[in-house]
Amino acid sequence: MSGAFAGSRALGSHALGLRALGVGILYNEAVSTLLKAEPGMVDFLSIMPDLFWTDHGTGAEKNRFVELDSWTEFLDWAVGRMPVVAHSIGLSLGSAAFDDDDYVEQLADWHRRYGFLWHSDHLSFAQVRSASGHEQHAGMAVPLPYDFEVLDMVAGRIRALRPKLPSPFLIENAVTYLRFADEDMSEPEFLNALVRQSGCFILLDLHNLHTNARNHGFDALDFLRRLDLAAVMEVHIAGGGEIAGMYTDSHSGACPEPVWALLEEVLPRAPNLKGVTFEFHDSYFPVFGAAGVHAELARAKSIWSRHRGP
Ligand SMILES: [Fe+2]
Repeated sequence: MSGAFAGSRALGSHALGLRALGVGILYNEAVSTLLKAEPGMVDFLSIMPDLFWTDHGTGAEKNRFVELDSWTEFLDWAVGRMPVVAHSIGLSLGSAAFDDDDYVEQLADWHRRYGFLWHSDHLSFAQVRSASGHEQHAGMAVPLPYDFEVLDMVAGRIRALRPKLPSPFLIENAVTYLRFADEDMSEPEFLNALVRQSGCFILLDLHNLHTNARNHGFDALDFLRRLDLAAVMEVHIAGGGEIAGMYTDSHSGACPEPVWALLEEVLPRAPNLKGVTFEFHDSYFPVFGAAGVHAELARAKSIWSRHRGP
């Protein structure tokens, strides 16, 4: 165990010096209304910066990123009232032939403006660039095979990225609806090696883990035993539902009981965990309601304080 997890000892000291925050929420327009009415309902806010602007693409001659005033007005209001962290969706770190310096610079500019405490993105890819320079976007996060070649490529991309963003960088474990044959490593082995090779931390999405465990038939607790939990800085919790025999990560409302059980497992064993973020999709808000959101936050806060204190 100690050999496999040796990477966590090399984690950045500045990151480990961050104070633990507690329970946060991922921003959407329904959350905006709830927070304006009660800013103290969460300990921190997570935002997807990509949703706050229109990106006219790498070919745009000028004004590539056009910010949405009503959204940035909310962010200007929130910063200073609560800690804010960034959760981007555009780095496409699993793409072998894709990089976007202007996008990274836009993220870095937002770090300077808003002082995000950390930055996360996903262990997947969405964009590819052909030899002729034509870009294609899958429109969704495509999973990666856990192979040594992929590990070296993603670790190299994260090492190149980290100096450009002035905060710790976290990678989120993916939800996957297919499995690759003959992979070199298990997912926990891949994540542990990525921490060692890139200096990143882990955003452990427990609903992604639950979804994968249920659809692919493995033991989520065994996954947690194999993962270097000292590298986990943030946890995501969410709800989902079953469609045509497949359990989906739809963020449709309340967290299922197995996700709460996983949170109880992780909290006492993740010494560098700074926050637990509840995610829901605002299209479900008319059904879920403010009471539903508050109930999930209250339950998460009670689990957090039982393990970490108020
Ligand atoms: Fe997530």
